[in-house]
Amino acid sequence: MFVISAEKFSVWKKKQLLKGGDKKSFSLLMDLLGGLSKEELNLLKIKSKKNLNLKLDLEILEFFWDKHIYSSVPIQYLSGFSYWRDLKLEVSNEVLIPRPETELIIEIISGIFKNKAEKITFVDLGTGSGAIGIALALANPNWNGIATDIDKSALQIASRNFANNSDQSNLKFYSGNWWDPLQKFKGEIDLAVANPPYIPRDTYESLPIEVKNFEPKNALLGGEEGLDHINEIVKNSPSYLKDKGWLLIENHFDQGERVKQLFLDNRFTSVKVVKDFSGIGRFTIGRYK
Ligand SMILES: C[S@@+](CC[C@H](N)C(=O)[O-])C[C@H]1O[C@@H](n2cnc3c(N)ncnc32)[C@H](O)[C@@H]1O
Repeated sequence: MFVISAEKFSVWKKKQLLKGGDKKSFSLLMDLLGGLSKEELNLLKIKSKKNLNLKLDLEILEFFWDKHIYSSVPIQYLSGFSYWRDLKLEVSNEVLIPRPETELIIEIISGIFKNKAEKITFVDLGTGSGAIGIALALANPNWNGIATDIDKSALQIASRNFANNSDQSNLKFYSGNWWDPLQKFKGEIDLAVANPPYIPRDTYESLPIEVKNFEPKNALLGGEEGLDHINEIVKNSPSYLKDKGWLLIENHFDQGERVKQLFLDNRFTSVKVVKDFSGIGRFTIGRYK
């Protein structure tokens, strides 16, 4: 623990923010690496506390801040953690940093499955850090969940995240290409969720450096038009979903109508494009027959 006077800290903070970067990232750095929560940081402005306890000294924190602002390394990768909903998840550059817009998936699903006593089998395809699968398993202890990913390192991180965030055992991890690891669950899935790679090639090439240079390409790139993985998931889903089973897919901002048509072409009913908090048709949902 490093004890720093609040005065010294304030001068240092001002100097760091003058170099660049934004206050939100600075606050995240202080939280994840310095051990100083957002609330404590905000309190400093109104209450003149004498001393602060930090997990790292100012020189090391400055080293990380410089890496963030001058090399664009995301704070989450520098610290090895990311917040998502009420979870603190381990991340590395082998998994996508889970995004805030994806959080809404959990609310959409709880709106569909209102009867909390219902026992269902769900799958989170392409789980990455495990965010969606873990949140669903924790919110619904009587559901049985399966989380899959093609990347074995991602799957190890996801299963550690589940162990570190709960003492439940209702989420299992399987590695492989989309539905392939789920052969023994054919016709048994009540709900499948996926946030697959959906960025079109042109867009991928012009992504901001902090995304393109650090986040895994196989978590982002969805082929020429961004729809390769979505196509594969939707087309193969009828073999795995129960009759009336649900499929929910996150898509790029302009793909909603095309994904909806794909659902309809594959005999899905009750198909809808659901908007995210920014009003973007971000999720496509439907029932198999
Ligand atoms: C956009 S990331 C989503 C990660 C996580 N579900 C989330 O929402 O933060 C897509 C994930 O799909 C995985 N993936 C890519 N291609 C895949 C494939 N062919 N089969 C299974 N998973 C795949 C990637 O490894 C990555 O973890």
